[in-house]
Amino acid sequence: MHSFEYRHGELYCEQVPVSRIAKEVGTPCYVYSHATLTRHFRAYDGAFKDIPHVVAFAMKANSNLAILRLMAKEGSGVDIVSGGELFRALKAGVPPSKIVFAGVGKSADEIRDALKAGILMFNVESSAELRAIDGVAASVGKKARVALRINPDIDPKTHPYISTGLKKSKFGIAADRALEEYKLASSLDHIEIVGVHAHIGSQLTEVTPFVEALKKVVALVESLKAQGIGIQYLNVGGGLGITYSDEKPPLPKDLAEAIFPLVKDRNLTLVMEPGRVIVGNAGILVTRALYQKDGEAKRFVIVDAAMNDLIRPSLYSAYHDIRPVSESLLARPKHSVDVVGPVCESGDFLAKDRTLPEVKPGDLLAVMSAGAYGFVMASNYNSRPRVPEVLVKDADIHVIRARETYEDLVKGETIPSFLS
Ligand code: LLP
Repeated sequence: MHSFEYRHGELYCEQVPVSRIAKEVGTPCYVYSHATLTRHFRAYDGAFKDIPHVVAFAMKANSNLAILRLMAKEGSGVDIVSGGELFRALKAGVPPSKIVFAGVGKSADEIRDALKAGILMFNVESSAELRAIDGVAASVGKKARVALRINPDIDPKTHPYISTGLKKSKFGIAADRALEEYKLASSLDHIEIVGVHAHIGSQLTEVTPFVEALKKVVALVESLKAQGIGIQYLNVGGGLGITYSDEKPPLPKDLAEAIFPLVKDRNLTLVMEPGRVIVGNAGILVTRALYQKDGEAKRFVIVDAAMNDLIRPSLYSAYHDIRPVSESLLARPKHSVDVVGPVCESGDFLAKDRTLPEVKPGDLLAVMSAGAYGFVMASNYNSRPRVPEVLVKDADIHVIRARETYEDLVKGETIPSFLS
């Protein structure tokens, strides 16, 4: 459920016509709905109300400060993967006691900053990293709370680039080596074992892979207990999918119901790291058609947004629904078109072979489900300034990130004097 709907003949975000946003802010721009973000967070958090839990929003999906503040106000923590994300999270007011830190390549500086901030735990991905964290913790006179990330070798049946829990993946520690690694962890003076972590992939549209992974993790918790290693937190990661086209992913409450029997009466606090399911359908990318071009074999609609603004179609062949902002376009004759951007690459497209009503230059289009892994993956390729982000609340428009300027593009660059 989201708050982008046709009303009075045009697409609205909450009580604001998208055309008004385009007029005031220009295109391309990302638009997020406050009501949808709030509803999604509450649906997720509420689904787990009968289990002690921490929701740590996976901020890699959308790390705008305003979105993070909104999440923090709703009671969310965050899952971070870099020093930059830690910086943003703290700046947005996320309590350090609700921050978990994942990723295979944490640097000593990042570890130090996180220890100083007093985060809830590190999700550790290798024995080398465990030793590094122990060393840094010793140098700052702290004990690092850790969970080991277990690779349960479960196929999440999603895109290979976003599957993370298979043996061939770089993530986590093989389940059959976990006990050994936990013993190593318990022997290190500056490490405190608090949890087990597993995240198997993203955009999962079935509950079964979650359950299979969790069964393995719970079995590990039992073996650890037998060895005298107590676990307080069980982190099941993120990964719940959303509807981009006609997928029917489970609802948070379906996931909670499936998980509940496995974790109840075990004295565990669940940690969850949802990203996409919270923000994905709470955002759109608004773009304006520039030209129509009839190629030899295809018709192209050339728009002002490109792969540098939203890379998911180019990178994962991801499907994003494209809707005209003015409902009147729906009455026009339909054609199969490629919706492409101005970037100089054949891989620059937002949709391929898509049946759309005729789009004329000047028409506004909404690229749907763009709230997650949209702006955060944007780049300045082709020296295109990154686009603004707008948060709509009721009838108000808030620009939460300004459009970059040409000066922003060259910020930090210098021409050495020998070239002058
Ligand atoms: N936790 C960990 C450890 C993760 O690696 C991820 C995502 C999440 C949580 C959040 O997963 P979510 O709930 O959003 O599925 N750029 C790709 C997605 C990459 C996901 C990486 N890890 C895309 O656009 O589809």
